[in-house]
Amino acid sequence: MARVEFVDLGQVVEAGLGMTLLEVCDAFGLPMETACGGFAACNSCRVRVIAGALSEVEDVEHPFLDDDGQRLGCQARVVGAVTVRLEPGA
Ligand code: FES
Repeated sequence: MARVEFVDLGQVVEAGLGMTLLEVCDAFGLPMETACGGFAACNSCRVRVIAGALSEVEDVEHPFLDDDGQRLGCQARVVGAVTVRLEPGA
């Protein structure tokens, strides 16, 4: 388990290692948008990493990331304590 904080939502949860951030949000009833259903085909689930780390960036994420500080919530997996905020694309 690892501490996952969503600063803009004011939520801190204990999530299982290996869960995607989307799975974490689903498990705890947090509002992460998923326009493509979690298939790395939109950027509605995008987050900004404030502190900590997530799994390595997947190739499919790159078209949807503006910079190295962003991740797709449906692809990024929990590997330890991490702090993020939701940062969906337009
Ligand atoms: S839900 Fe569409 S890219 Fe993650």
